[in-house]
Amino acid sequence: MPDARLGAGTAVRRAAITALVRIEQGAWSDRLVRAAAARLADPRDRALLTRLVYTTLRWQLAIDPLLDAAALPATERCALRLAVTQAAVLELPVPIAVSSVVGALAGAGDRRRAGRVNARLRRLFREGVPVLDPVRTVPDWLVERWGRTFGPEAARAIAAASTRPARPFVVDLERWAGRSPAGAGHGSDAARRSALVPGGAHAGRGAPATGPEARAVAVDEGAAVVARLAVSGPPGRCADLTAAPGGKTLLLAHGRNGPLVALERHAGRVRALARRLHEWGLGRTVALARADATRPPLAARSFASVMLDAPCSGTGTLRRRPERRLRITSGGIERVADLQRRLLEAASELVASGGVLVYAVCSLEPEEGFGQVMDFLARHDEFDLDDAPAALGPAGAEVADPRDPRCVLLRPDRGAWEGFQAARLVRRRREPAADADAG
Ligand SMILES: C[S@@+](CC[C@H](N)C(=O)[O-])C[C@H]1O[C@@H](n2cnc3c(N)ncnc32)[C@H](O)[C@@H]1O
Repeated sequence: MPDARLGAGTAVRRAAITALVRIEQGAWSDRLVRAAAARLADPRDRALLTRLVYTTLRWQLAIDPLLDAAALPATERCALRLAVTQAAVLELPVPIAVSSVVGALAGAGDRRRAGRVNARLRRLFREGVPVLDPVRTVPDWLVERWGRTFGPEAARAIAAASTRPARPFVVDLERWAGRSPAGAGHGSDAARRSALVPGGAHAGRGAPATGPEARAVAVDEGAAVVARLAVSGPPGRCADLTAAPGGKTLLLAHGRNGPLVALERHAGRVRALARRLHEWGLGRTVALARADATRPPLAARSFASVMLDAPCSGTGTLRRRPERRLRITSGGIERVADLQRRLLEAASELVASGGVLVYAVCSLEPEEGFGQVMDFLARHDEFDLDDAPAALGPAGAEVADPRDPRCVLLRPDRGAWEGFQAARLVRRRREPAADADAG
């Protein structure tokens, strides 16, 4: 059943087409859509804009072969994609799917374009509404890659999961920090409560209250699982080495006792994170610095917990970051795996005796996650692989990685979370004799 609201709003379609063109030219969807939505007065229009843009991007690769639109101007190509998404994915009746998009172009003074788009859409829909294959929404080479890693059926399920909207997830910080009882606060409805994240719940209908005043943070459930692996480490100093935009930093700041250092390499992201920490009243609690974590300006072996939520290809996050599927390359995976290896080496230097290093990526690729961890362990016999699922409580067993059940694998088809791979590495305590030598 299509949503009645979907039929309304040429201004929203116009904004959606403009956003799709800018994203095709290289912009990232999250900030762009937020800014475009802020220019619309009605909150329902804002929600509709977000839905139209994100859904079109998620299905774009399956739609494009039907359009033969590579040679068209970007505005027309994006308008066609939007109209097909409205009819084939959002189940809007064809006349409305077409007229709302054509009307948006005509209203913007593009009458010739509107006429051309109208004619193409009528030809396309003459035979009925096309049925789109969710597997085609992801590049073939990536589905084949997932097939080699997880099996062909799982690969298809992961591709299909990447077309579904992300479900908002909210962590109540009082419960996360263990300061209020399990049943209280946000998401006390048991059906929506996370089994893996204390205080975490999937939000119901409507925008959940989040922010410093609500004492609740909106993050992906998988991201909160990763933060929990670091929170449950030994007490003492903690370093969050690749911190922006800072969802996990907020969780670490509220879940751990002890000083927290956060590093981030990119200046703009450092500034945005500094503002975020200030808004949360954490400006003095978290020591934030701009630094390259391959050469961190921090004392060796001085941290009880180190979190490396490494930059990655993001193949686990195609639902929330739908345009990634349009940009990712296998060469990009190799390049980022090399950076991850260097970051992991540098991060391990910071871990004190008996301390924990949490390594995580929101990628499903073995060379970025599981393989990266196994290669590290082969080079470093001073580290042991800890049982990460056990640190998540009884439900942790559900996210144990079949390749080694001491690692965590969050497959995006198995929950409403983004895909993550994570592991906990523990630096062996030095033998007393070695300590004496060192002294
Ligand atoms: C996966 S994101 C981290 C997400 C973050 N932990 C959170 O929960 O919001 C990776 C971050 O690492 C940063 N980064 C990339 N290379 C880096 C480096 N060499 N040193 C420090 N930060 C780096 C990126 O700019 C990006 O903000």
